[in-house]
Amino acid sequence: MNSKRTISILGSTGSVGANTIKVIEKHPDLYDVQVLTANENYKLLAEQAKALNAAHVVIADAKYYDDLKRALSDTDIEIHAGQEALQEITKIPVDLTMAAIVGMAGLPPLLNAIKHSNNVAIANKEPLVSAGTLVMAQASKYGTTILPVDSEHNAIFQIFEQKNRDAIERIILTASGGPFREMPLADMATVTKEQALAHPNWTMGAKISIDSATMMNKALEIIEAHILFDMPVDKIDAIIHPQSVIHSMVEYADGSILAQMGASDMCTPITNVLGWPNRIATPGQKLDIKTLSQLEFESVDDKRFPFVAMAYEAVNKGGAYCLAMNAANEIAVGAFLADKIAFTDIHKIVTKIMEKDHQKALENLNDIMEYDRVTREITESLLSS
Ligand SMILES: NC(=O)c1ccc[n+]([C@@H]2O[C@H](COP(=O)([O-])OP(=O)(O)OC[C@H]3O[C@@H](n4cnc5c(N)ncnc54)[C@H](OP(=O)(O)O)[C@@H]3O)[C@@H](O)[C@H]2O)c1
Repeated sequence: MNSKRTISILGSTGSVGANTIKVIEKHPDLYDVQVLTANENYKLLAEQAKALNAAHVVIADAKYYDDLKRALSDTDIEIHAGQEALQEITKIPVDLTMAAIVGMAGLPPLLNAIKHSNNVAIANKEPLVSAGTLVMAQASKYGTTILPVDSEHNAIFQIFEQKNRDAIERIILTASGGPFREMPLADMATVTKEQALAHPNWTMGAKISIDSATMMNKALEIIEAHILFDMPVDKIDAIIHPQSVIHSMVEYADGSILAQMGASDMCTPITNVLGWPNRIATPGQKLDIKTLSQLEFESVDDKRFPFVAMAYEAVNKGGAYCLAMNAANEIAVGAFLADKIAFTDIHKIVTKIMEKDHQKALENLNDIMEYDRVTREITESLLSS
């Protein structure tokens, strides 16, 4: 009998995926890796699969199938390719799936993973923002435990007392403020990709790094917290905390504010969800409390970071506004990373999409994917106009 926990990692070649592998490699006796997936980085995928002796690999972009096959020719690892294969593979039952694909591309495999895994750790925040009700309904239908990986949501998960949820007055999400917290506003139009990618505290994938620089990341996280913890959005605040030591807080009616602290290292939340409900050792950095001289907090400047206010507006308007905000942002960030638009154009483009009517009820996965596709198309057309 296999005493190890079976695990699949969707998006294993990304930043969260690689940190998940670091945790598994520290605890080789605990995990049996079933599935690893990537979009196009077949070289790293092959290396990871060999090192972990994975049973299956999926390369979502099918044009890399032959390369991957060659790279794994001396193994009996099963090789799959294409978006459909990505969805099929998530039907393999496992104890834990780590959902670490970036963007809405992660939604269909996430829904399958929820159906076929006992626990699903979600880093992939965009599906929660765009299709949160569907994702949580799927989890409740199949009795699957959702484990939040985002450092803020993992912090809240650790300090949120379900039995006292009525006494929770506020969830306080912390935000570093990113690389442009103190830059004169007039200079923001000319920042380069390299400047925007250089996050002061965290090492992350490109898309989330840009989202952190615009603070769209916090906007997405406000919606994510609203969905994951089923809390009204007016009980969720964001506050800037440049040191990124407190990862979030929960304030209770008795005046207590519980906070979770740690190093700015994704290994901590990832180790937390991999070990859950137990606590296991992290391969990452630990916070040396003696080195802390001060913890600072400041309000979010809405002029500098207008996406945060947009998140509340999107939730309050309902319909497909959260989905539209996310879809437009994914396209605009892609255009900025491809040097097609300026940094400040990201906000202008998303605003143009949000000014349209998105009062549409999206009932199922098809409706959601179609609305997402059309919104992306409209956003693309704005880029060239
Ligand atoms: N990085 C962090 O510290 C962090 C923290 C909190 C939350 N998150 C969230 O976690 C998710 C992953 O972030 P990340 O920074 O790890 O991203 P990343 O480094 O860009 O990695 C993304 C992963 O998804 C794969 N992928 C990309 N597009 C795909 C597609 N169309 N179909 C299938 N697979 C695809 C990539 O494959 P290739 O390598 O082949 O491109 C890679 O394995 C995001 O939603 C992010 O917001 C990240």
